[in-house]
Amino acid sequence: MQENDSLEIDFDGVKFKNPFWVGSGPTSGTADKIIQALKAGWGGVVIKTVGDSIVRKGVRPMYAAMRDQNKDLVVFENIELITEDNLETWDRYIRTVYHEIPDAPIIFSIMGSADISEWAKLARWSEDRGANLIELNFGCPHGEPEKRSGAYISQHPDLVYEYTKEVVQSVGVPVIAKLSPNVTEITEIAKNAERAGAKAVSAINTVSCLMGVDIEREMLFPPVFGYTTYGGLSGPGVKPIGLKAVSSIYNNTKLTISGIGGISNWTNAVEYIMCGATSVQVVTDTIMHGFNQIKEWTSSMADYLKRHNYASLDDIRGKLAGKIKEYSYLENLISERDSIDDELRKIREV
Ligand SMILES: Cc1cc2nc3c(=O)[nH]c(=O)nc-3n(C[C@H](O)[C@H](O)[C@H](O)COP(=O)(O)O)c2cc1C
Repeated sequence: MQENDSLEIDFDGVKFKNPFWVGSGPTSGTADKIIQALKAGWGGVVIKTVGDSIVRKGVRPMYAAMRDQNKDLVVFENIELITEDNLETWDRYIRTVYHEIPDAPIIFSIMGSADISEWAKLARWSEDRGANLIELNFGCPHGEPEKRSGAYISQHPDLVYEYTKEVVQSVGVPVIAKLSPNVTEITEIAKNAERAGAKAVSAINTVSCLMGVDIEREMLFPPVFGYTTYGGLSGPGVKPIGLKAVSSIYNNTKLTISGIGGISNWTNAVEYIMCGATSVQVVTDTIMHGFNQIKEWTSSMADYLKRHNYASLDDIRGKLAGKIKEYSYLENLISERDSIDDELRKIREV
């Protein structure tokens, strides 16, 4: 048995050597980057979202970062759209990837316009090029919602149902619906994807945001000739939002889950798996640090499983999701209470 066999996962019938996927974003946006990630040891790569009629050139700058006093990243904002490359270019990228790595574990990510037939066309395009999993990007919070695509779809449960069903009926491979956290209750949206035949969901896409204001220069971030637009927040600060989404979907559906949001070390990935994820996706950390962290992440995760006598990730998946209860359940467990001031003091002291 190889050292890291314990990290293998089965995601709706597709095997991956470990649960770590590079998520859809700039670090999965060319053949070279995809190959580099896979050669570094990532279990899979979700390609940068491809489209057809909605492909357009993005603005610059499109990123902004919030850091703490040690200059460590807290959160990251982007106003990047889907890929700027057309389908012909992606055809070339895909062929290059499979030429270099014949069984490359890549997941195709697609987004069409509001015209539902475009989603089916893109899904068939993906399947024709060897996709064995297709992720539907229903979650982009900027650029597309005003055109009734992207997060607009996630925000309308009936549309999630219709678009998912259209794609599921058009292809034979399992379909993953990628959901936006910018909704009242993500679990209700996930249930609609499940009813429509999706085998899995990915959660979360970025959180709608406005990064900040330079009060001396009276400027908003990221500044595009003095203007900006609401963007998508990612990175360490969004992990609690992702964990909530994943655990709630796990507790209320039978969907396979790809957990996303703020993963910046291997322990964060274990958190997601204990809350119900089968795979995890990482974008911002690969933007900040490249791909080589994966070696340490996989060996530390394998050591952790061994240390705790777990044979595989199946032994920890969802292990803690059942501990999330309604408030009244917790109330009944309590007999004595600290004063509120004592608890606030303890929190401040850490
Ligand atoms: C710069 C940037 C571009 C992104 N582009 C896409 C995209 O094309 N398609 C998509 O589904 N998600 C996209 N995302 C969202 C990520 O896949 C992921 O859901 C989100 O960033 C949260 O994960 P993280 O905290 O690991 O970055 C993008 C994120 C970033 C930061």
